Amino acid sequence: MHRHLIGMLLGTEEDWPSAFETLMRRYVPKISYGGAEHHFDVERITIEPFDLRSVPRYSLVIDRLAHWYYVPREWLKKIALMDDVYLLNNPFTFQSMEKHSAYCAMMRLGLKIPDTWMIPYKQPPENPRFPYTAAKYNRPFKLEDIAEQVGYPLFMKPFDGGAWVGVTRIADHGELNRRYDESGERLMHLQSSVEDFEVFARSLSIGAETMVMNYDPDKPLHDRYQVDHDFLTPELGQEIIAISRLVNSFFRWEFNSCEMIVKDGEVCPIDYANACPDMSIISLHYYFPWAIKALAKWTLFCTVTGRKMPIDLDARRYFDIGDDDTLPYAEKLAAYATLADRHFDSSSYQEFCDAHLAEVDDAMVEYVESSGFDRLLVDTVRDAFPSHEHDAFIAHYRGLLGAWASDQSASGPG
Ligand SMILES: Nc1ncnc2c1ncn2[C@@H]1O[C@H](COP(=O)(O)OP(=O)(O)O)[C@@H](O)[C@H]1O
Ligand SMILES: [Mg+2]
Repeated sequence: MHRHLIGMLLGTEEDWPSAFETLMRRYVPKISYGGAEHHFDVERITIEPFDLRSVPRYSLVIDRLAHWYYVPREWLKKIALMDDVYLLNNPFTFQSMEKHSAYCAMMRLGLKIPDTWMIPYKQPPENPRFPYTAAKYNRPFKLEDIAEQVGYPLFMKPFDGGAWVGVTRIADHGELNRRYDESGERLMHLQSSVEDFEVFARSLSIGAETMVMNYDPDKPLHDRYQVDHDFLTPELGQEIIAISRLVNSFFRWEFNSCEMIVKDGEVCPIDYANACPDMSIISLHYYFPWAIKALAKWTLFCTVTGRKMPIDLDARRYFDIGDDDTLPYAEKLAAYATLADRHFDSSSYQEFCDAHLAEVDDAMVEYVESSGFDRLLVDTVRDAFPSHEHDAFIAHYRGLLGAWASDQSASGPG
């Protein structure tokens, strides 16, 4: 018998971790695989001093802290390098490859990234060597000239950003200079704005699965994801999935969201390095059960089959395709898709799901329809909204989750 302990490094979130724990503890079956029976448990990891030679008890860890908290980050690196614990996500590429690196890599691979410039700090780093270095080597520049080249309106945003912090849309020189002054010690990009677009799509990828959703960034947080199954042509839908899987397989990210803007039929990726993608029921609503289920399935697949987490990148194979000027864009995407399928082991994952996890689909519906799930929903709404809005939002979310459950029964398993 194999026991697999799944660890979670959590911050302030309560909703999806509880749902994940309940699904894994109460609903996920024991799995027979490779002549053995596999059992699972889930545990929230505490943060404490650790001996670098200590042996962790976890088979897999879902991390939501390392992007800002260095104690768990360093523990994750230790358990990846020394103990082969499977991590969502790989801390190495997520720390060294932020949004800026993702733009660079995807530009080289031929994706339609809006024109982007990096500009030096407004407020230089405090370092005694800076004044000498800057006097000798920093070239004076005119911010307005760069902005002219990028063209207005443009976005100024942190090179390693997240959660819209420090992101502004800028229309003219005056605003440009004000925003630059405000950026202080934060290193910024100027990026051409994709205006008057047809669709804003946001995808959430968990292991080999990707859900593409219609996203309205101008709405309040609870109303950004639209329940909409027909907002893209099948070709555009495939392209967005292919780009999401390319980004994730290239960087070895297995729990990530990507934002893409479709304009004049072209897909422009603008944000795709989200180490801690939004999983809350408040924003995902209808798509929340899919996300919990996908997280459970990928976790089960990785632990039961003994999948090894790749620590290093394999960039050259992608560059060989990207650098081939004879290949048109669509053929490049198709070639990347083959690499992504290989990285995610997509066909083995599908076979594993069909052979061993069919019950998880039914279990998720059963759980969503249970009183325990309803309590989670009610508690989450009470925490998230002011009291005079509780009744309306509870009804709203019950409606969306109920719609998901009945859509599953209507479409059969899957
Ligand atoms: N080039 C762009 N064109 C149009 N809208 C953009 C562009 N860049 C950013 N935005 C808008 O700003 C939001 C935040 O920018 P984003 O790059 O996603 O930063 P973050 O990593 O903080 O989420 C996006 O969701 C989008 O609405
Ligand atoms: Mg974003």
